[in-house]
Amino acid sequence: MSMLRAQGLSRVYRTPAGEVHAAREIDLEVDAGEVVAIRGRSGAGKTTLLTMLGGLDRPTAGRVEIDGRDLYGPDGTALLGVTVASVFQGFGLVPILSAAENVEVPLRIRRTDPAERARRVAQALDAVGLADHVNQRPAELSGGQQQRVAIARALVAEPAVLLADEPTGQLDSETGAQIMDLIARLAHERGTAAVVATHDPVMLARADRVLQLHDGRLSRVG
Ligand SMILES: Nc1ncnc2c1ncn2[C@@H]1O[C@H](COP(=O)(O)OP(=O)(O)OP(=O)(O)O)[C@@H](O)[C@H]1O
Ligand SMILES: [Mg+2]
Repeated sequence: MSMLRAQGLSRVYRTPAGEVHAAREIDLEVDAGEVVAIRGRSGAGKTTLLTMLGGLDRPTAGRVEIDGRDLYGPDGTALLGVTVASVFQGFGLVPILSAAENVEVPLRIRRTDPAERARRVAQALDAVGLADHVNQRPAELSGGQQQRVAIARALVAEPAVLLADEPTGQLDSETGAQIMDLIARLAHERGTAAVVATHDPVMLARADRVLQLHDGRLSRVG
């Protein structure tokens, strides 16, 4: 069953220089537990696609369904309660919070009760191999460890869909491979539909399916 379905997704940016067609009638279906990688050169439309799939940018045309429900309401705003989590470049961790406190943020927003929060934060940090670093702040962690905190934070609320935009961009290739293995393992174990934009061949090799974006159009690879 498709956990994530996009139909006819288009995005036109209007700029002083004219219209930019960053996404052109994109159709995409991702099953629960499936990891799809999207590759494409700089400017191909990867970030545009992921932000639309994540409910952060309303498409000019087309629709997105998560687990059979429309992500965008009739007024174009994304529906609350539809669980999509994102990991974007730069990780977006809060510098003054410890690893555990960063991971706790989505659960605080959902008003999960404190005992349950503590249990799930510990479990999420354990799942990404950071059980021994829970009290360290981002600046006291390596790049790969920070990225794993960002993944734990994305997954702690058990989202139906995980989106990652070049999640290993700043990491060496071996650490990048470990991060991608982690995303794939967690997606397979938990039935999360994952979409990862990347140029990295090491990461592409770990996806269940690879799609190519070229000038806003999505096509199959191989
Ligand atoms: N807010 C915006 N306003 C106008 N044009 C934009 C905007 N955001 C992106 N674009 C244009 O849309 C196209 C797709 O950009 P996008 O950021 O989606 O590419 P990308 O594949 O993520 O590239 P990169 O690999 O460099 O991150 C590009 O031509 C870009 O210049
Ligand atoms: Mg991008």
